[in-house]
Amino acid sequence: MKTALDQEIEKAVSDKEYSQLKEEPKGLKVKPINNGTVIDHIAGGQALNVLKILGISGTTDTTLSVVMNVDSRKLGKKDIVKVEDRELLEQEVNRIALIAPAASINIIRDCKIIAKRKVDLPDEIVGVVRCQNPSCISNTAEPIQSRMLVKTKNPVLLRCLYCEQPLTENIAEYLI
Ligand SMILES: Nc1ncnc2c1ncn2[C@@H]1O[C@H](COP(=O)(O)OP(=O)(O)OP(=O)(O)O)[C@@H](O)[C@H]1O
Ligand SMILES: [Mg+2]
Ligand SMILES: [Zn+2]
Repeated sequence: MKTALDQEIEKAVSDKEYSQLKEEPKGLKVKPINNGTVIDHIAGGQALNVLKILGISGTTDTTLSVVMNVDSRKLGKKDIVKVEDRELLEQEVNRIALIAPAASINIIRDCKIIAKRKVDLPDEIVGVVRCQNPSCISNTAEPIQSRMLVKTKNPVLLRCLYCEQPLTENIAEYLI
């Protein structure tokens, strides 16, 4: 039995788009984007940190939808961010990987997914995350950029190259 909402969605979008909408939580009616990026499989609760990485905060003209803490078979709870007219820079993808290591990036053109990839971290990240150790040389007046070795990617475990301080929790708070 189709609900009134189903019929409404069906009227509004083509078959392919309808099936995509159906995959998302019941009652969630979000218009498909024509061009842009869907960041899916974000660890539940991290969507606002993803927006921060994308430089979206306060007042914005960006067309976007954000879904938080919905059930996911893979992750338990997940967030989804859909941004219109935006494709991500490699540096943005790497930052997202730090806080949402299972995220997938779907690039949408003409309403269709033309590319899908998982985020991935390089083995070393430079100048992106501040060391937690206040007396680390990377936190002094010295002109030394932070350097973090990526020990594990999911869950993310970083280790400072200079002082060996580990960093694994609340990484969003240490982004430079
Ligand atoms: N035009 C669009 N506008 C908005 N969201 C879209 C559009 N096309 C796809 N999506 C969303 O992109 C995400 C990935 O879509 P896809 O059809 O690949 O789902 P999937 O098969 O579940 O993928 P995965 O295996 O990555 O979970 C879904 O959240 C879907 O709703
Ligand atoms: Mg899916
Ligand atoms: Zn350090």
